[in-house]
Order: sequence, then structure tokens, then C-alpha cells
Amino acid sequence: MEEIVPTGGALGADVRGLDLAQPLDDACFARLLRALGTHGVLRFPAQRLTAAQLRDFSCRFGPIQRGVADRFRDPSVPEVGILSNIRRDGQPIGLADAGQDWHTDMSYTATRGFVNVLYAVEVPMRDGRPLGDTVFANMQAAYAALPPAMQARIAGLTATHDFNVFWERMRARPGSVRAALTPAQRASRPPAVHPLVLQHPISGRPVLYCNPGYAERINELPDAEGQALLETLFAHQLQPEFQWAHRWTMGDVLIWDHLGTLHNAIADYAPDEHRLMLRCQVMAGSIFDPAFQQRWLQAA
Ligand code: SIN
Repeated sequence: MEEIVPTGGALGADVRGLDLAQPLDDACFARLLRALGTHGVLRFPAQRLTAAQLRDFSCRFGPIQRGVADRFRDPSVPEVGILSNIRRDGQPIGLADAGQDWHTDMSYTATRGFVNVLYAVEVPMRDGRPLGDTVFANMQAAYAALPPAMQARIAGLTATHDFNVFWERMRARPGSVRAALTPAQRASRPPAVHPLVLQHPISGRPVLYCNPGYAERINELPDAEGQALLETLFAHQLQPEFQWAHRWTMGDVLIWDHLGTLHNAIADYAPDEHRLMLRCQVMAGSIFDPAFQQRWLQAA
């Protein structure tokens, strides 16, 4: 049986003794799902996967979503996206600036993101130290640490999340090669509205569900009051006590729970320090389904 070893930080655990190239048996998958709800981030070290094996592992968690403006896909397995700063023949082979600020993937869609699966094929190194960490923040802990008056204030409030907010922030960075979204791309990702507090489908605990990357307003409050409240919540959720940084090793597969965490990819490496990650984005289409929950969370 696999061994699950917590990092000792605000979130995260290592899962040892599993080869993700092999199909997971049902009992093992159920244990991983529960561990994801508890630890938020799971690392599977020393994996050797094809793109198809990465897809097959990922889709155990739910349906895989393709990116809206994401032209970098594995040529034979389109569910697998490519994140990289590598250029071949002068052309980028992957999205070079994915996730380089605090956000939660797919909070801007009506069906929220559930699990991100990242496979480290190349990790930039300098002086023997890996670069390009991914930092996480624990939103179950952030909610629990809110003063009761704030918990009462945000109960019942909703936030609008817009894909274009983060896209434009990335575009404004010096050297960005992102083009403005076309009207068709914008139309394919209309803003979505979600409660500020959700009950986590695995742990059952309340989660502070907003993030500076996409949450742009609070619908039930006047603009200025809503903005001030969002700023307060952003400052609260990014306090160091809720954070933990994953330092990558080649061959790591990292999965994280979008519903209960925020993340930020640290761009501290140079263009000639190569980073290559393969990614599958799993949507929360299955995890809120009572039949899925019954099968994997209650019956196991
Ligand atoms: C992402 O936000 O999906 C990318 C994270 C990373 O590359 O570390």
C-alpha cells in the first residue's frame, strides 16, 4: 500500500510507493481522493509517464478541460497541455507564463476546476538548487482563521470571477506575448458567479472561495464596499501561515485541489533555464455528483 507523508507545512503530502503508469485500484483511488481533501496538494515522486498515462490518471478525478486560449497541447493527446519557456526553431513549445500570480484555476467557469495535475519533465536549476517553485495557500485553514464576525458577514455573499482579469494582468507584464482575447474567446468564457464560502465536497469543511486572480466584485454589495471586502479577504488568505511552497524535482507528479487552495507559479528562472511541465485540468463535474461521492467517499 502507498504511504502518505504530510509535509508538516500548511498543506501538502508526499505519496510514496505508487507508479502512476499503472492503473490505480479502486481502494487506492478512494484513499487518494480523501487525502487530497485533507492535504490539498499531493506529490507523487519519481514518475515516468507518457502523455496518455497522465491523461488516464487525471480523468479518474473527473472530466478534463482544455484551455480557452491554449494552443500548446500534446500533439496526440490534446487533453494534455504544455507549460514551458523552451523555444524550438524560434517558436515557443508551451505557455511560458502560466499561473504566475495568485489564483485558482477555473474559478471563472460555471463548473469550477477541481484538480490540477502537473508532471515535471524539466525543472530549471541554478547552483544545484531547483527554481520555479509552485506556492500554495490553504483555504480551509484561511476560512477557519477568519474572525466569527467576518464569517457571518460573508455568509450568503457571492463573487463574480472573470477569466479576462488574470489574462489582462499577465498581458500587462513586460515582454508578455499574450494577445488580447478575441471576442469569440471572451464569449466562450463568460464570467461566473460563486458563493464566497463553499462546503468542501471531500472534507465537508467550509472554504474561503475567492482569489485575487479572478474574483472581481461582490455582487450583493455596492462597488466600493465590495472591493474593500475583497481586498481584506485577499490579504487574509495570502498570509504566510496558510502557505507552503513545492520545490520541484524532475519526475514529480503534483496534484492539487482547486476548490480548497490558491497557487502561484514563481518565475525566478531565466529564459535559458528550462522548465517543462505537462498539465491536465480536471473540472468539478464529478466531485459534486452524489453518485460519485457515494462511490468514492462514503462506500470506500
Ligand atoms: C498553473 O497555474 O496551472 C501552473 C503552475 C505551475 O506551472 O507551477
